[in-house]
Amino acid sequence: MANIIVIGMQWGDEGKGKIVDLLTEFADVVVRFQGGNNAGHTVVVGQETFILHLIPSGALHPDKKCVIGNGVVVDPRVLLEEIDELQKRGYFKNENQLLISEDAHLIMPYHRRIDVAREQMKGEGKIGTTGRGIGPAYEDKVAREGIRVGDLLEETIFREKLKTNLSVKNPFLEACLHENGFDLEEIFREYLGYAHQLKKYVGQTSAFLERQMKQGRHILFEGAQGTQLDVDHGTYPFVTSSNTVAGGACTGAGIGPTKITEVIGVSKAYTTRVGGGPFPTELKDEIGQKIRERGREFGATTGRPRRCGWLDIPLLRDALRLNGLTGIALTKMDVLSEFEIIKICTSYKYQGQRIEEVPSSVKAMQECEPLYEEFPGWKTELKDIRNFEDLPPRAKDYVRHVEELTDAEVILVSVGERREETILRRNPFRHTPQRRFS
Ligand code: GDP
Ligand code: IMO
Ligand code: MG
Repeated sequence: MANIIVIGMQWGDEGKGKIVDLLTEFADVVVRFQGGNNAGHTVVVGQETFILHLIPSGALHPDKKCVIGNGVVVDPRVLLEEIDELQKRGYFKNENQLLISEDAHLIMPYHRRIDVAREQMKGEGKIGTTGRGIGPAYEDKVAREGIRVGDLLEETIFREKLKTNLSVKNPFLEACLHENGFDLEEIFREYLGYAHQLKKYVGQTSAFLERQMKQGRHILFEGAQGTQLDVDHGTYPFVTSSNTVAGGACTGAGIGPTKITEVIGVSKAYTTRVGGGPFPTELKDEIGQKIRERGREFGATTGRPRRCGWLDIPLLRDALRLNGLTGIALTKMDVLSEFEIIKICTSYKYQGQRIEEVPSSVKAMQECEPLYEEFPGWKTELKDIRNFEDLPPRAKDYVRHVEELTDAEVILVSVGERREETILRRNPFRHTPQRRFS
């Protein structure tokens, strides 16, 4: 039995979708445990590209079960659209392939409107959310006012909860945000329609996962967003509203920490960020522009251009500590093939001092100046390389430097967006780590 968590080490979009799709071949079940349709996970199979927002990235393997855990916030309209789209493209034909937790919270239309209106009001200081209602939905969950997937299936309970919520949300929307409120009957009818279509997928996911483990099945837990977007450990308040770190898999899927066998962190060979907030290695020059163009760094959910910069080792060390990683999947190495010189930030200069760790305050992080080591580029296309030994020596050196600087094992190097464009150095489902990291 192997239960492996895959999480993002940076600010999201590290290529988790690709890695999860790839590793699904060796797993039996794939589980989303936090976030919602703020996520956009791209999977490229053959000539086809899929962007998954709520359904786990294992969906393109027809015999593998996909689970949406209790920690996810579910927009039922988006979920049904996604199921429909996958079915139209020949996937997800078997309704047993998906199981949704009855304890997952719902994203309601007022969550979306509050999210967008609040951002507008903030103006310059906005977070740059995806506008999908993620924050407001998690706020209601913590306030114990949220509506869960299970509630949707109980008509009277759903109506009652919706009524209570609207009695607070409508005045808030109208008086504070200068937006229109919502009509109870309209939402009620719309959501009952969703309930009717989703009912067959809903169940007790934690108990299901326990049964799978007892039968010796392999489970892959798919993180969304990235470590620096974690509500506790990220660049608060420029974060999302869930725990994106590996610990979130336990609470968000209903499994105990002793069941986890490995945690793999995904990092790009450089750094990107969408939305506001500090980013010490950001390149606002033509190098940043080149990375954006070559890496096609535009958001999978909102289409926004991603901010780009060099690899930031203090961020990766933060991710190693916060997630207890057993290995790193280094993606988008091919994007760096263009550059004569490649830089890696190994520490920061802050108030005249050299510091190795990411400061916790946003203000301090904004004042950090990255200190770089420079490496000569390899200037060779990597997309067709499948073995580590066949990489150009300078590309191998780059990977080894990342290992030395982080004191971690790079188990996988990704050299293109397709499944096969991958150098798998150690398969976590087949071989256990040679050592635990300090
Ligand atoms: P996720 O949110 O972590 O799943 O990542 P996204 O899908 O939002 O963004 C990653 C983007 O990079 C997608 O367009 C992927 O198809 C692409 N990608 C993943 N790995 C590689 C790689 O090794 N090389 C290149 N060129 N593209 C990659
Ligand atoms: P995946 O899973 C990159 C960012 C938003 C914003 C902040 C808060 O594809 O890696 P939210 O809508 O969650 O309240 O927005 O978090 N953000 C992401 N950035 N990848 C993601 O997901 C993201 N999900 C949220 O841009 O800065
Ligand atoms: Mg993404």
